[in-house]
Amino acid sequence: MKNRFNKTFWEKKYNDNKTGWDIGKISTPLKTYIDQIENKNIHILIPGAGNSYEAEYLFINGFQNVFVVDIAITPLNNFKKRYQEFPKENLIYNDFFELEGLYDLIIEQTFFCALEPNRRSEYTEKTHNLLKDNGKLVGLLFDFRLTKDGPPFGGSDKEYQQLFKKRFLIKTLERCYNSINPRVDRELFFIFTKK
Ligand SMILES: C[S@@+](CC[C@H](N)C(=O)[O-])C[C@H]1O[C@@H](n2cnc3c(N)ncnc32)[C@H](O)[C@@H]1O
Repeated sequence: MKNRFNKTFWEKKYNDNKTGWDIGKISTPLKTYIDQIENKNIHILIPGAGNSYEAEYLFINGFQNVFVVDIAITPLNNFKKRYQEFPKENLIYNDFFELEGLYDLIIEQTFFCALEPNRRSEYTEKTHNLLKDNGKLVGLLFDFRLTKDGPPFGGSDKEYQQLFKKRFLIKTLERCYNSINPRVDRELFFIFTKK
């Protein structure tokens, strides 16, 4: 099936200001997770990072190797203007599925749910390939029924377990206790380690 949610689709969302997912700051669960990371030298990737508040927070807090990839140029340009100290070469304008490299940590927030559901196993393969040995995929997944309507597309912990267990050890996959208000009871926090 043709990929409906391509570059043109996302660029138009940004140009029309239809960015309901954008909370304008780092989300509480990701901030809490980031605040307990001790090694600031790790290589971190944020795919489909949009306006990249998490990347900004990481960089301000001393993480030097933070990379963002997005298929749309508008949020990358927004970020360049908003936070000029961030290394431009770490802002990657590309399709995540074309990206190469190796990272210690990949942070997920509303990127997985933005993909056509039939790309989910491609996502697990790609995140797996982009992680170093023992690398981690960490973040948030929506916890509402998967239907044909989206994005965002939902799922359940059972579906996610099934999908990710082939390539990852499921360390944590649980109802998020510190979601932002609009997402309370609608998201799972997870930590998956590369197998
Ligand atoms: C729902 S938005 C989420 C943005 C950000 N994660 C946030 O929480 O604000 C989905 C983002 O993924 C990007 N995207 C969609 N498909 C992509 C792909 N194949 N490769 C890279 N980025 C992609 C879109 O341009 C958009 O910025």
